[in-house]
Amino acid sequence: MLALGVDIGGSGMKGNVVNTATGEILSKRLRIPTPRPGTIPEVAEVLAEIVGHFRTEWGDPSLPVGCGFPGVVKAGIVGSATHLDKMWLGADVVTAFSEAVGSTVTVLNDADAAGLAEIAFGSAQGHRGSVLMITLGTGIGSGMFREGRLVPNFELGMLELDGHHPIEDRVAYRIYKQSSLSWKKWARRLNRYLDHIGSLFAPDLIVIGGGAVNKWSKFSRHLDVPVALKPARFGNHAGLLGAGLAAVKPELVGDAYPV
Ligand code: BGC
Repeated sequence: MLALGVDIGGSGMKGNVVNTATGEILSKRLRIPTPRPGTIPEVAEVLAEIVGHFRTEWGDPSLPVGCGFPGVVKAGIVGSATHLDKMWLGADVVTAFSEAVGSTVTVLNDADAAGLAEIAFGSAQGHRGSVLMITLGTGIGSGMFREGRLVPNFELGMLELDGHHPIEDRVAYRIYKQSSLSWKKWARRLNRYLDHIGSLFAPDLIVIGGGAVNKWSKFSRHLDVPVALKPARFGNHAGLLGAGLAAVKPELVGDAYPV
């Protein structure tokens, strides 16, 4: 079954049609810069534009839509959105997006979405143990999986470490891009962080995704942690694939409990 996956990132909102049975990413990606400051109407309008584009291209006005959101989403309500406008806090993102698009949109945390894709079809396919998806982009996203099931809304970029809080402001890929840190120096920070979360949560596998994964060969050789590490098979596209998957299988999101 086909679905449209959308990923709201710190710099761009990306959409693509995906085959949720095979994990294939089908059409040409559409990327529109994430609006600033990123109010609810601004973001909803860009989402509607992306959805309109693909529904027209595929001639399918009822293409299901899933969306990865860069913050905590619990039962459709936003719990945090550090890199978007403050008006998102406590907002009903499912209603806002569904009204903008004209059909129900499934919304989940972006790193949770990336992890769903990697578990279903990617670097953690079929992994039964504890898998931690870590996305390195504007922020640090994290998705925890046990026996292939998502434990939603892990926020491991928000940790305090060595006096740095939140640690994403020291280790996210944005920090590498905005500073003059060498790959080695940035990787040393990342190594310390991965080592720490490894000792706190004892995952069997950490999958690294987000924008940084495109440069995996530049920094992975500087990483040395006692946990298996793999780059995301779908790279920075994992989030939109997972969002598309969640659109047709909302039960994967594990978010159906009353809060
Ligand atoms: C947010 C996470 C999100 C990550 C990546 C962080 O700032 O707290 O929820 O997954 O950025 O977008």
